[in-house]
Amino acid sequence: MSKNSSGHSRRKFINKITQSVLATAIVPEIVSAAGRAPGIQLLKRSGIYTANDHVQIALIGAGGMGNADADTCITVPGVKIIAACDLYDGRLEDAKKKYGSDIFVTKDYKEILSRKDIDAVIVATPDHWHKDISIDAMNSGKGVYCEKPMVHDITEGSAVIAAQTKNKAVFQVGSQGMSSLGNEKAKQLYEAGAIGQLNYAEGFWARNSPGGAWQYEIPADASEKTVDWKKFIKNNPDHGFDPKRFFRWRCYRDYGTGVSGDLFVHLFSSLHFIVSSNGPEKVMSTGGLRYWKDGREVPDVLLGMFDYPQTDKHPAFNLSLRVNFVDGTADSTYLRLVGNEGSMIVEWDKVTLTKNKSYPPTGNNDLMVNKPDPLAYERKAMVNGDAIVYKAENGYKGAHFDHHYNWIRAVRGGKPVIEDALFGYRAAAPALLCIDSYFQEKTIKWDPVKLELKKS
Ligand SMILES: NC(=O)c1ccc[n+]([C@@H]2O[C@H](COP(=O)([O-])OP(=O)(O)OC[C@H]3O[C@@H](n4cnc5c(N)ncnc54)[C@H](O)[C@@H]3O)[C@@H](O)[C@H]2O)c1
Repeated sequence: MSKNSSGHSRRKFINKITQSVLATAIVPEIVSAAGRAPGIQLLKRSGIYTANDHVQIALIGAGGMGNADADTCITVPGVKIIAACDLYDGRLEDAKKKYGSDIFVTKDYKEILSRKDIDAVIVATPDHWHKDISIDAMNSGKGVYCEKPMVHDITEGSAVIAAQTKNKAVFQVGSQGMSSLGNEKAKQLYEAGAIGQLNYAEGFWARNSPGGAWQYEIPADASEKTVDWKKFIKNNPDHGFDPKRFFRWRCYRDYGTGVSGDLFVHLFSSLHFIVSSNGPEKVMSTGGLRYWKDGREVPDVLLGMFDYPQTDKHPAFNLSLRVNFVDGTADSTYLRLVGNEGSMIVEWDKVTLTKNKSYPPTGNNDLMVNKPDPLAYERKAMVNGDAIVYKAENGYKGAHFDHHYNWIRAVRGGKPVIEDALFGYRAAAPALLCIDSYFQEKTIKWDPVKLELKKS
């Protein structure tokens, strides 16, 4: 398409011509169970998307997840990567090989933001750069897909919310599970009362490999010649060029957010979405560095406990989360919501609902004292069937595609984003406070409505 002289008018143009395209929104629906195994229902999306304009995207942070984001985003019809920014030469060379030798590349994200032909940016840098780049991008009129966790420190969230509000920006945080069929189905089931009264939720991430524990490859040519080290460290102490800090940044507190910011945040996003929660008011954690003693500063086993207050959307309940990077059982992830009438295991493409017998909290004395009639035989009762499994239909493109689809739809002027800055901050906050609680060795109290720390 022709390039307009200003980014804003280019956006307006895109919005106008794509209104008709958006008429066919994707809606989840349950496919009839006819012909399928009993207890299994398929989840599917319908709707056709035809695009007649390119949304032009730049990738800022062209590492592992940046590439995954860009690769997925360009499968949404009408999306094109036209620029990439990274601090390591090798990643810029790879981006040119992958997205075209004519794309614009730079080590300075501000050069990306000053270009009028870019509608929106994917921010997939390490966590300590998320806030500044996202705010600068919104102030430059760009749409933003910011990887999780939205911010690196608990103090940073309000500025991102303010920038989104001020600019009316299309800003979405990258917890892709929130756009999944699985999360949507779980929300529907929860709201229909499928598990009764929620009282407990639990989740974990188990890993047991060097890559899973963040010991990523360090390229042979890594040096201060190929890496912009000074830019990378931002305003943190300069330890001298250290390729481990650059390529394995998750292991260091100046740049990463520990296992909770990296992984728990996905579980918070899904849970908050399903039960419409603002978040917990009390955060406690413990853990330790048990195995991967490679100079890292953060624990490889972390246990977090979170108290959720009663709101008009959910009762008070407790959440228990854990990450184990030395888990000899298997690499797996799990999120389960438990109520007095059943439980749900929630995956991005599957929900397993198990119904159970429930009793009133009081008045059960008769059950305990009434002796059975000695002449009666032990007649079996009717029980609920086995667990009901809701499964995505074969060919489902998955949560990551849906999340990018939803973001691009918003960039084009369609429905609002799925995870805005306010939601993103409320999901990030308990994850950040969890690692803070570990290091400060204390319970931290948080006001999830006012978004402020309370006296502990
Ligand atoms: N949504 C998910 O499932 C998911 C999965 C993995 C990672 N992530 C998130 O994605 C982000 C990136 O993680 P990753 O695994 O891709 O890390 P990575 O180290 O593979 O990539 C980060 C890239 O950012 C570049 N970079 C650093 N500072 C920069 C700056 N100021 N400007 C431009 N580029 C800069 C680095 O050179 C590197 O290439 C993190 O925030 C992480 O939490 C999300």
